[in-house]
Amino acid sequence: MLKNDIILFLNNNLNIVMSGELIAKNLGVSRMSISKNIKVLKEEGFDINIIANKGYVLKTKIDILNEDIMKSIMRHDIDIYIFDTIDSTNTYAKNHLCDNNKTSLVVSDFQSAGRGRFNKEFYSPRGTGIYMSLVVPVNKSFEAIKHLTCAVSVVVAKVVESFGSDKVGIKWVNDLYVNDKKFCGILTEATTNLETATVNSVVIGIGINLNTIDFPSSIKATSLNIEATRNELIANIVNGILELNNYEDTMQSYIERSILTNCEITYTYNNITNTGIVKCINDDGNLVVNTVDGEVILHSGEVSIGSNNI
Ligand code: BTN
Repeated sequence: MLKNDIILFLNNNLNIVMSGELIAKNLGVSRMSISKNIKVLKEEGFDINIIANKGYVLKTKIDILNEDIMKSIMRHDIDIYIFDTIDSTNTYAKNHLCDNNKTSLVVSDFQSAGRGRFNKEFYSPRGTGIYMSLVVPVNKSFEAIKHLTCAVSVVVAKVVESFGSDKVGIKWVNDLYVNDKKFCGILTEATTNLETATVNSVVIGIGINLNTIDFPSSIKATSLNIEATRNELIANIVNGILELNNYEDTMQSYIERSILTNCEITYTYNNITNTGIVKCINDDGNLVVNTVDGEVILHSGEVSIGSNNI
């Protein structure tokens, strides 16, 4: 779409005045269609200055989800589906892409029914976050991919830190924190073949609060304060995940980032709620907790910090 191409062109030449003629030549259209579309873009709220007899200049970098930009950073040839609005990228990926046996990425600017673990809502306001699901055909046993979600947490932590984020901590299993507040959640789902006991595909859903300022009062969360576009972050996260040789290799980094070690926690596992002190995360990614009844090893479950939650 021409409007899209114009805004991308100005975005790539941020703060530089571009003549209508130059833009038209680059995009292979008339000067008239450029000026018409610039007017529409201004009405839509883009910060474009029109400088008489000189041209157009974009003053504020925009962060439109764009396949070409993502592909220019990605080192892997994968299918990319970008939505303006969707219920949940994970739901779409599970319903439409898991049987294709192809690595694919679903991204949306907004989710109306973003999902977290334990059927919780993942708040997904328009334009200020990353809502992505990566479908990876794995065709392996559960055992072979048991470290996958921990590895993905480490990939996301390293990518955002490489763009200047404060040190990222991980709250077991998949919540990423900066400065004691959650900015990212990961929901990994799978399609399985029970006859062969294999996982066919995994859907790795990642939600990152990037520039969201106002959260509903029920949500204790924060946003990352970094100079990075969504396209850059998404493409680098995809590179990081697809370049994991061995999920287990990231376990040391995962364990070092754990914010729960030595903390008093309340956990719910198999419908039983209890408290304890976290001893460690073991090499299998399980949470080892000292309780009054002895040591408990949690393979999954919901955990909150503190003892006053029961
Ligand atoms: C959690 O916090 O428990 C996990 C949140 C996962 C949210 C992401 S956003 C993209 C993908 N689509 C969803 O509906 N959920 C995941």
